[in-house]
Amino acid sequence: MPFDTQRLTIRQLTDADAPALYAIFSHPEVMRYWASLPWTSITQAEERLAHAQEGYRSEEGFQWGIERKEDGALIGTCSLFSFHRPSRRAEIGYALGRLYWGKGYMNEALTGLVAYAFTTLDLNRLEADIDPRNDASAKTLERLGFQKEGFMPERWIVGDEVSDTWFYGLLRRNWREEGRR
Ligand SMILES: CC(C)(COP(=O)(O)OP(=O)(O)OC[C@H]1O[C@@H](n2cnc3c(N)ncnc32)[C@H](O)[C@@H]1OP(=O)(O)O)[C@@H](O)C(=O)NCCC(=O)NCCS
Repeated sequence: MPFDTQRLTIRQLTDADAPALYAIFSHPEVMRYWASLPWTSITQAEERLAHAQEGYRSEEGFQWGIERKEDGALIGTCSLFSFHRPSRRAEIGYALGRLYWGKGYMNEALTGLVAYAFTTLDLNRLEADIDPRNDASAKTLERLGFQKEGFMPERWIVGDEVSDTWFYGLLRRNWREEGRR
C-alpha cells in the first residue's frame, strides 16, 4: 500500500522501527491527549510493531510509518482502524514525534491517507475521536475538511484522568465537493 507525498513516504512499519517508535510514543507531550499513557519500555514498541504487522496481514487495521524522504527518519505514524466494512467507514489516528510538529508534515501525510481511504479503499466516511483540549489535532482535522459532529462526555479514562471526546467526521462527498483531491 505505501504511497509517497512530496516530502514523505508512508510505509509499513518494520522491526527496525522500534527505537524511533519508542522515541515518539514515550514523549509526554506527544502522549498528553492519547488514549494510553506514555510508553516506558521498548517492549511496548515491539508489541505495537507486532500488532501493526498483524494488521497488515489481516487487513483489520493499518498503522503506517511516516518517513521523511530527506533523511529517512521515521517521524510519526498514521492509522486507519475500526473498519466497518458494510458501512465503508473507518477511524483515523495520527501522531508525530515532538521534534517534527509545526512543519505541515501531518497535513501532508493525512491528505494522502484520506485520498487513499476514499479512492483505493473506496470508503464513504472517516471518523476521528479527539480530546477537546487537543487544539493542534483539531486544527489538523479541520484543515482537512473534517466536521465536528458530536460531544461525548467522559469517554476516556487514562491513568487517573477522565476526559471527553469531540467526535469528527468527513464524508467522501464533502471531501470531493471541497476539491481536496
Ligand atoms: C496532532 C499533531 C499531529 C499536529 O501536528 P502539526 O505539526 O501541528 O500538524 P500539521 O501537519 O497539521 O501542521 C500544521 C502546522 O504546521 C505549520 N506549517 C509549517 N510549514 C508548513 C507546510 N509546509 N505546510 C503546511 N503547514 C505548515 C502550519 O502553519 C501549522 O501550524 P499552526 O498549527 O501553528 O498554524 C501533533 O500535535 C501531534 O502529534 N500530537 C500528539 C499526538 C496526538 O495528539 N495525535 C492526535 C490524537 S487524536
